[in-house]
Amino acid sequence: MQQKIIIIGAGAAGLFCASILGQNGFNVTVIDNGKKVGRKILMSGGGYCNFTNLNIDAGNYLSNNPHFCKSALKRYTQWDFIQLVNQYQIAYHEKEHGQLFCDVSAQNIVDMLLNECHKGHVTLKMQTELLDLKQTESGFLLDTSHGPISANKVIVATGGLSMPRLGTTPIGYKIAERFHLPVTPIRAGLVPFTLQPTLLDILSQLAGISVFANVSVKHQQFKGNVLFTHRGLSGPAILQISSYWQAGDIVHINLVPDLDLADFFDQQREQAANQQLKTILAKILPKRLIEVLIELHIIEDITLKQLNLKQQSQLIEQLYDWQIIPNGTEGYRTAEVTLGGVSTDALSSKTMASKSIPDLYFIGEVVDVSGWLGGYNFQWAWSSAYACASEI
Ligand code: FDA
Repeated sequence: MQQKIIIIGAGAAGLFCASILGQNGFNVTVIDNGKKVGRKILMSGGGYCNFTNLNIDAGNYLSNNPHFCKSALKRYTQWDFIQLVNQYQIAYHEKEHGQLFCDVSAQNIVDMLLNECHKGHVTLKMQTELLDLKQTESGFLLDTSHGPISANKVIVATGGLSMPRLGTTPIGYKIAERFHLPVTPIRAGLVPFTLQPTLLDILSQLAGISVFANVSVKHQQFKGNVLFTHRGLSGPAILQISSYWQAGDIVHINLVPDLDLADFFDQQREQAANQQLKTILAKILPKRLIEVLIELHIIEDITLKQLNLKQQSQLIEQLYDWQIIPNGTEGYRTAEVTLGGVSTDALSSKTMASKSIPDLYFIGEVVDVSGWLGGYNFQWAWSSAYACASEI
């Protein structure tokens, strides 16, 4: 009798895995609690889906075991996915840092995945929530909102907890725990920071302003825009560093990463020593930010001539290393990804199968592998799905 494979989750990893298995001749059903398939794909990249990155490397991923993702990323690369996108003549462009986005709509990617599933005669059961999973003699029994379903193999592709309004559930982690597979602590990643009320009072005046900066926490750093918001700090550089931040860590912000400030002040002293310091700094920083930095006593409201060399070196230090301790993050509500998850110790990096429970697999974001901002998370979804499907 033909093996029956059930995939839980019609997101990026689940749909892609289903399409390969279906085309390889397996009887595949995907169940999902939502009405629509690929809801995160549709929302991603501002509706244009940043579906991969030209520069994929294991160093772009966070995991307790940084080597785990290497095998899957090597066997199904960004170039393989780009080839599929090209086959469908989906127009795309590189935005920056190798990030590839659809020209027209993220719907193109969902349509492509659905077409690939259709080619493999995959059955999709939407609005069907997995409630529990038990092992039986011949495989598994799934307890779903539409009654029991049996399967020989189960692939868990239930994603993480970010954006709960999209119907996320912790079932993937619960299944792992039920089968005694370790789960590393989970938390929101690629997420804006919130600030202490007193600092927020001051910085929220800057809501909407962004500055190009170098942001670092401990030994990790990212260059990019920092956006001030009504709730705290956001923007690409902040989202990236948030995945490396732990409560209490200092965030170091270099507000002028590409400028030698000592040279800048030397030049300005020759040309405009009588000018106000804030007027001079307005050549390199937004005016409103300067006003706020005056309020925070980082910049003094004096002329450049009045700024002595000791004060100047202190100012340079502060602009190169503005230190902020966030209050926390906005959490899963606005996070792009969930860090942590089903421990890679419990899984085969070659097949994504659990080492202790035969025929139980975990792919995509539910696994303790999380990517940087920039198409890395979708590439993990594609690569881990392929690793699983190609070894069944
Ligand atoms: P995914 O979350 O896609 O799918 C899981 C599916 O399982 C969902 O459909 C869910 O409804 C279903 N499910 C959950 N519990 C269930 C249950 N109990 N029963 C049945 N079904 C259940 N990444 C990137 O590389 N480029 C980008 O541009 C973006 N942009 C982006 C924007 C926003 C707003 C978010 C929130 C995230 C991104 N990401 C991203 C991250 C990316 O979307 C994410 O990493 C992948 O979608 C993960 O794919 P998965 O298939 O693992 O989970």
